[in-house]
Amino acid sequence: MSETQATKQVRVCQYQSCRKLGADRVLEAFELHPVDGVEVIAVHCLGQCGNGPMVLVLPEEVWYCRVSPQEVPAVVERHLIGGNPVKGMLYRKFHPSNG
Ligand code: FES
Repeated sequence: MSETQATKQVRVCQYQSCRKLGADRVLEAFELHPVDGVEVIAVHCLGQCGNGPMVLVLPEEVWYCRVSPQEVPAVVERHLIGGNPVKGMLYRKFHPSNG
């Protein structure tokens, strides 16, 4: 039986404010690009309403704000596969020295 242990988690906010800004399509875009060892989950409000769609990548605690579905492939390729967060998309509140 093959069981892949997820080592990373992509949390995509699906609560009111983020949904109004298109978070459902962002979640879909991540689901269309599955990566081994990465679990994509819909979560409740991440406490950063108005800056959404918000995406949080764990365990490294990288936050992305105002994510659009078109940007998801860059996050998948460069961050989830390549290991380098996409600087231009980072949420400055929690990553003040980047982007
Ligand atoms: S609704 Fe997404 S951060 Fe609050």
